[in-house]
Order: sequence, then structure tokens, then C-alpha cells
Amino acid sequence: MAMIGTTNVHAKSTEVIPEDSAQVKKLLAIHKDLVARITPYGKVCFDGEECDINITVLAPAVEGVARPGDQLYKAICSTCHDSGLLGAPKVGTADWTPRIAKGKATLYDHAINGFNAMPARGGADISDDEVKNAVDYILSQAK
Ligand code: HEC
Repeated sequence: MAMIGTTNVHAKSTEVIPEDSAQVKKLLAIHKDLVARITPYGKVCFDGEECDINITVLAPAVEGVARPGDQLYKAICSTCHDSGLLGAPKVGTADWTPRIAKGKATLYDHAINGFNAMPARGGADISDDEVKNAVDYILSQAK
């Protein structure tokens, strides 16, 4: 069955609503770019695809308030640092030992400004303090 499997971020449920239901058809008719608009917040799945069930939705930025590192990590950094994608040091492993040896200031700098395949700010529009929170979270998980 075809389905739109986006996590329902408002109800925090993972209920899957069939794509051919009247409800979804109507929504798609009204909002033609619906899928494109959902994508930054949650994965949209179709027939036969595996769907994320643990989507972390980043709370909207509030001026002057840095969001917590664990949330930032899950929403942005985990894409690479959970799996080691592109050679990223894996969170929660000894991959971080030689990195930590460089000193925190260098790690902050590389996370903010980018370092080889590590994109500046993880490629996201987040503040310096938020990048630092995410780095602190990563370091708190290091073994
Ligand atoms: C597109 C994949 C990708 C994303 C997303 C990503 N990283 Fe990385 N990161 C990398 C890679 C690859 C490296 C290893 C770079 C190298 O050592 O050449 C790395 C390295 C790092 C390092 C170590 C830098 C050093 O000097 O050794 C830190 C700290 C870091 N990332 C933090 C973060 C944080 C914080 C986020 C989220 C805000 C993030 N990364 C998101 C790919 C990514």
C-alpha cells in the first residue's frame, strides 16, 4: 500500500496515513509542494521504503537561546556521526580519542568553520553556541 509515512510531528505519533486516503489526497491537492515542505522535518516514505520512526524535530530557533546539544546532534550531526559517513568519527566510540587530543577549542573551530569533509555547522543554519552545544554532546558520549 502506498503511504505517506511522515511522523506526525504534532501528535508525536508514528501513525501511517495511506496515500490514497481521501484525507491525504485532499491535502496534496491543496498543497502541491506538501512533500517538499515536510521533508526538512521528517522523512516522507512511500510504498516499500523503510521509514524513520525516530525523527527528531528541532525546535524552532528562538533569538538568543541556544538549543540543547542532544537535540541538535540528533537532528543534524547524527546523519554522519552515527554511522561514520564520509569518514566522520562515530559518536560513542574511541574514534574521538585523537580528536579530543587536539583540544576543545580546535574541535569547536572545526565544527563551526568546517574541516575537510566536515561541513561548517554540519551544513545547518545554527549559531556558534549551538554548534558548541552539539560538540559538547558528542564529547560527553565519547568512550
Ligand atoms: C555531512 C556529514 C557530516 C555532518 C552532517 C556533520 N559532520 Fe562532523 N565530521 C564529518 C567528517 C567527515 C569529519 C571528519 C573530518 C576529518 O577529520 O577529515 C567530521 C569531524 C567532526 C569533528 C572533529 C573535527 C576535528 O578537528 O577532528 C567535530 C567536532 C564534528 N565533526 C562535529 C560535528 C557537529 C557538532 C555536527 C552537527 C552540528 C557535525 N559534525 C555534522 C562529517 C559530518
